[in-house]
Amino acid sequence: MTLPEFRTRYRTRRELRSRPASEVLPALKKWVNSHALQDPSRELHYLEALWVTWGFNEVDEELLKYLLTAREDRVRAAAVDVLRYSGHQIKKQATLLQKTAHDKSTRVRLATAVAASWLAPKQGLSILKEIAKNPSDKWLSPVLETATAHLKGQGIKSDTAEKIAQPTSPLKGEALTFFKKGHEVYSREGHCITCHQSDGKGLPAAMFPPLAGTKWINGSEERLIKLTLHGLLGPIEVKGKKYPGQVPMTAFQQLSNEEIAAVLTYVRNTFSNKAPMITPAKVAEVRKATKAQNGFLAPADLLEEHPN
Ligand code: HEC
Repeated sequence: MTLPEFRTRYRTRRELRSRPASEVLPALKKWVNSHALQDPSRELHYLEALWVTWGFNEVDEELLKYLLTAREDRVRAAAVDVLRYSGHQIKKQATLLQKTAHDKSTRVRLATAVAASWLAPKQGLSILKEIAKNPSDKWLSPVLETATAHLKGQGIKSDTAEKIAQPTSPLKGEALTFFKKGHEVYSREGHCITCHQSDGKGLPAAMFPPLAGTKWINGSEERLIKLTLHGLLGPIEVKGKKYPGQVPMTAFQQLSNEEIAAVLTYVRNTFSNKAPMITPAKVAEVRKATKAQNGFLAPADLLEEHPN
C-alpha cells in the first residue's frame, strides 16, 4: 500500500480508531516496510505511524527504536515522548532512556529527563545522572533540578513560597491582615503575578502593563474592582505607554469578596503604590451592581464611567 492509498483507506484518526487494531496495524506495518517513502520527510511519516500504533496501545518497538535514532532531533524527542508513556509495553524503556540521555541534542536530553522523572526513583535518578554528564542549558537545567528533587522525594522549591514568607508593610490592623492575604492571592499560579510579575513591573514586551505607580491601581476603587472582577480588553494607556489591547486580562469572578479585597489592598500598598484599603463590602457592592456584565470590560468605557 502506498501512502496515498493508506491515507484514503484511513482518512481520519477517528476512522482509524473505529477500525480494529487487527486490521490497521498489519496494514501500517506493511506500509512502513514497503520502502515506498524515499522522500526527505520520511521520518515524519514514520513518526505518524508510530503515533498510530501508540493510539492503539500497541507501540511498535522496532519503529520506536528506529525513530530514537532519527536524523531530526525533533523526531527523536517526539519518539522519547512516546517511550515515556510506554513503560508497560517496552521492556527496555530504562535502557533506551540511558542511551537518549547522551543524545547530542539538548532537546532530546530534556525529553529524556522528563521521561526519567516518571520512573522508579533508583532507575530515574541513574538516567538523570547520565544526562547531567552532558552540557546543559537554561531549559534543561531547571528540568533536571526539578526531576531530581522529585525522584528524591524532596519538595520542589517554589519562588512563590519563598516570597510569601515575608511580606512587610507599614500597614496596621485589618489592613495589614488583608495585605498579607493579598500577597498570597497575588502570587497564586495563574493570578496577577503570572502576568504583572512579582515586582509589579509587568512585561511590557508581552503586553502586560505594570502595576507600579499606575492610576488604575491608585485611582478609583470601583474601576479597579470592576476590571478585576470582569477582566479587561481593549487599547489602554498605562504610565504614558499605549498598549494596543489585544491581550486580555482574565476575569477573577471566582475569587471571593475577601480575596479580591485582599489582593487589591495588597497591590495598592506595594510596588511603591499608596492608596486606601479595599473592603469586602465594597467588592460585594460592585459585584452586585455589575452582575449583568458579560465578558471583558473595555478600558475606554471604564474611564468614561470613572475618569479619576
Ligand atoms: C493573564 C494575564 C493577566 C493576569 C493574570 C492579570 N492581569 Fe491585569 N492586566 C493584564 C493585561 C493584558 C492588562 C491590559 C489589558 C488591556 O490591554 O486592555 C492588564 C491590566 C491591568 C490593570 C490596569 C492597567 C495597569 O497596569 O494598571 C490592572 C490594575 C490590573 N491589570 C490588575 C491586575 C490584578 C490585581 C490581577 C490579579 C488579581 C491581574 N491584573 C491579573 C493581564 C493580566
